[in-house]
Amino acid sequence: MPRSVSDAPELPRSGVWSGSVCAKNGSARFMSVSALKVSESERIKFPIPANVHAETVVSVRHYTDRLFSFRITRPQSFRFRSGEFVMIGLPTAEKPVFRAYSIASPAWDDELEFFSIKVPDGPLTSALQQIVPGDTVLLRQKSTGTLVLDALTPAKRLFLISTGTGIAPFASLVRDPETYEKFEDVILTHTCRDHAELSYGETLFEQSANDPLIGELANGRLTLYSTTTREISSRMGRITRLMESGKLYADLCVAPLDPATDRVMICGSMGMLKDVRALVEAAGFTEGSNAAPADFVVEKAFVD
Ligand code: A2P
Repeated sequence: MPRSVSDAPELPRSGVWSGSVCAKNGSARFMSVSALKVSESERIKFPIPANVHAETVVSVRHYTDRLFSFRITRPQSFRFRSGEFVMIGLPTAEKPVFRAYSIASPAWDDELEFFSIKVPDGPLTSALQQIVPGDTVLLRQKSTGTLVLDALTPAKRLFLISTGTGIAPFASLVRDPETYEKFEDVILTHTCRDHAELSYGETLFEQSANDPLIGELANGRLTLYSTTTREISSRMGRITRLMESGKLYADLCVAPLDPATDRVMICGSMGMLKDVRALVEAAGFTEGSNAAPADFVVEKAFVD
């Protein structure tokens, strides 16, 4: 089994990711595509812009009043590397608002998955959080991003450091066999304000462990380390503090970060990126890119 290091109480589980399952369990909501497809024609009020894919929502899952995830159909021609982001929008205006979203599903998946924050007055997320199966989501044709395996030089361990929806690109990478071809150990950290917000990562971890393809590769090599910062739990604290104090490594019984053996990817809020970047640079890590692969890469978790 991959390891999950969290002392958080058992989180609500609500089954597998499948468009044909309809279940309500705890705070998670999950709806089937067939149940609500009739609403499709009513919801498209504007023509689809040129050079944009119009895809269908397959499932939606709400975790908290701030976080939800959804899956959409994937155009056959749409190619991406695990960890990249794409611009998405809704056909609700003549000139739709597009925002960058990390693709949370791996490159081999038939569908595309996204993990989103809900911003009450956000130009996109205020409407996006209302989508139901059968609705249309617009997808620009090109994906890009820095959180790709190609931007890192070979090493033994891969640390994926995330807060909030910053876990999305790592949800793609931990389900990509190439990650395990390139790294012996993969350590995913996820820090959120409270337990309910950790649910996406916990479900991802369970799903990966039970996946016929990834489960075997991840076996004993993928570790999830989850912490809360605002709700009391026995594993608490910002990841920066846990790295600085060495508690992260002590909890996992592993050696501290070392550029000789490790590579790091970072995704979260601006403040978190700045602080984790400072920590890894102080430890001697050099930033990499597609053009010049090196020790660590950074990407903002896009919110609006
Ligand atoms: P905190 O609760 O102490 O602010 P958000 O939901 O606001 O995006 O935050 C997600 C998580 O990121 C929270 O647990 C938050 O902790 C943490 N966080 C926010 N800023 C930083 C930072 N500069 N360094 C490390 N963690 C941070």
